[in-house]
Amino acid sequence: MEKNKENLLEKVVGLCKRRGFVFPGSEIYGGLKGTWDYGPLGTELKCNLKRAWWDYMVKQRDNVFGVDASILMNPKVWEASGHVASFTDPLVECKTCNERFRADKPADIKEHEELHAKKKEKVTWTEPRQFNILVEAKLGVVEGEKTTVFLRGEITQGVHVNFKNILDSMHPKIPFGVAQIGKAFRNEITPRNFIFRSREFEQMEMQTYVKANDKESMKIFETMKDLRMKWYLDLGMNKDRLRFREHAPDERAHYARTAWDIEYETPWGWDEAEGIHHRGDWDLSRHAKFSGQDLSYFDQETNERYIPWVIETSAGVERPLLYFLLDAYREEEDRIILKLHPRLAPYKAAVFPLLKNKPELVEKARSVYSLLATHHHSLGPIAWDERGNIGKRYYAQDEIGTPICITVDFQTLEDGTVTVRDRDMAEQKRVKVEELSGIIMKGGYLF
Ligand code: GAP
Repeated sequence: MEKNKENLLEKVVGLCKRRGFVFPGSEIYGGLKGTWDYGPLGTELKCNLKRAWWDYMVKQRDNVFGVDASILMNPKVWEASGHVASFTDPLVECKTCNERFRADKPADIKEHEELHAKKKEKVTWTEPRQFNILVEAKLGVVEGEKTTVFLRGEITQGVHVNFKNILDSMHPKIPFGVAQIGKAFRNEITPRNFIFRSREFEQMEMQTYVKANDKESMKIFETMKDLRMKWYLDLGMNKDRLRFREHAPDERAHYARTAWDIEYETPWGWDEAEGIHHRGDWDLSRHAKFSGQDLSYFDQETNERYIPWVIETSAGVERPLLYFLLDAYREEEDRIILKLHPRLAPYKAAVFPLLKNKPELVEKARSVYSLLATHHHSLGPIAWDERGNIGKRYYAQDEIGTPICITVDFQTLEDGTVTVRDRDMAEQKRVKVEELSGIIMKGGYLF
C-alpha cells in the first residue's frame, strides 16, 4: 500500500465524522449497530451519486422507466421471491464468548480466533446454521392481531410486482428496463468496515426484461457488465482498483443463473461494489404462481407469449460511496485532498471575501455567491467561508473535495476579476466574474 494510504479506512472514517459526511446512527444514545446517519456533506455526496446513476442508467438510455415502490409489501411477496426460505447466511457462534459470525467470511473468523489467541484462549465454534436476514416489523392497530411484515431485503421485488402495471401503462417493447433507487434492510450477522456492510442501506437497481432466450439474454448481460464498469471509470475511479469476479455456483443467490460482481480493491482486500445477475424467469414465474396473475408478455415481433427473463444490475449506494471516498483520498505535504470527480463533490465551488472585516468585499463576495448559487443549484450547492485566513479556507475545501475556490479581493472591486484556485493543482488564475459559470460547468477544471 502507498505510504499515505496506510490506515486509509481509519483516515476516511475520521474525515467523514470531522467534516460532516457520515456519523454513527443514534450516536448520543450509544449508537445502533449497523446504522449510519449522513451529515450535510454526506447527504450532498449521496445525492450526487444517486443522480449520477439515474442520469446514466435511466435518462441517457432508451426504453427505461423508473418506479418508487413501497418498502412495506404484502408478506406473500417474500414467500414468492424465495427470501423467506433462502435469504440466509451461515451463522456460527464462538463457544467461548458467544459472539456470532458468518461462517463464509474466513477473514472475520480468523480475526476473532487471533483475538482469543492473544489471551491464550482457543476458540471452538458451533456447527453453522442458516440464519434468515430478513428484518421483521409488526403492522396493525390491535395488539395481538398485528401482521408480521418484512422490511424489504432487496428493492428488486417492488419492480417485479409492478411488471403488469408497467406493461399496461407504458406498453414497452422488450428489451426494456425498470430502475429504482431506495432503502433495503438486512439483519446482517456482522455489520462491518464502516458503511460497507450495514443493516439499513440503499440500492440502485435496474431490472432489464429480455426475451426468454439464452443467446440474447447473455448478450444483454455482457452489455450491462460493460455499462456498469464504465460508470465507475467515467466518475474517475482508478481502473487498477476495479475488476470483475464471477460467482462460483455455490456462492450464487437462489435466483441467479449467472452472477458477476464488480469489485474494488479496498484496504481490507478486493470486495464487492455491485452485482450483475441473470435472474432468468425466477421472479416473474414465482409471482405469477403465488399471485395467480398472468405476468406473461406478448411479443408482437414474434407473435409469441412468454415470461420474460431478467438481467439485473444491483449496486448499493453506500459501498460505491465509500469506495469513491477511499479512491479520492490523498495526503500531499501538509494538506489532505479529496480528489472527487466534480460531479460527486458536495460543493461545486467555494466563495470567499479576502477579508471578513471589509464590508465592501463581503458585499461583493455575497453577490458573486448568490449569482453562482442561483445559477448552479441543479449541480449542487456553493460553499461560503469567511473564517480564518485564505490558506486555511483552501485547506478546508480541499479536504471535502471542492473543485475550485473563488476569492473576491480589492482588485475585484476595480476590474470585476476574481482569483480562482484549483483543488488538484493548488494553482491560481485571475478570471472575470462572468467566466465563473463556464468554469463550474466544466467541472472546475482551470488548466
Ligand atoms: N437484488 C439483488 C441484490 O440485492 P445483493 O448482491 O444482495 O443483490 C446488491 O446486493 C448490492 O447491495 C451489493 O453489491 C452491495 O453494494 C449492496 N449491499 C448488499 N448488502 C449490503 C449491506 N448489508 N450493506 C451495504 N450495502 C449492501
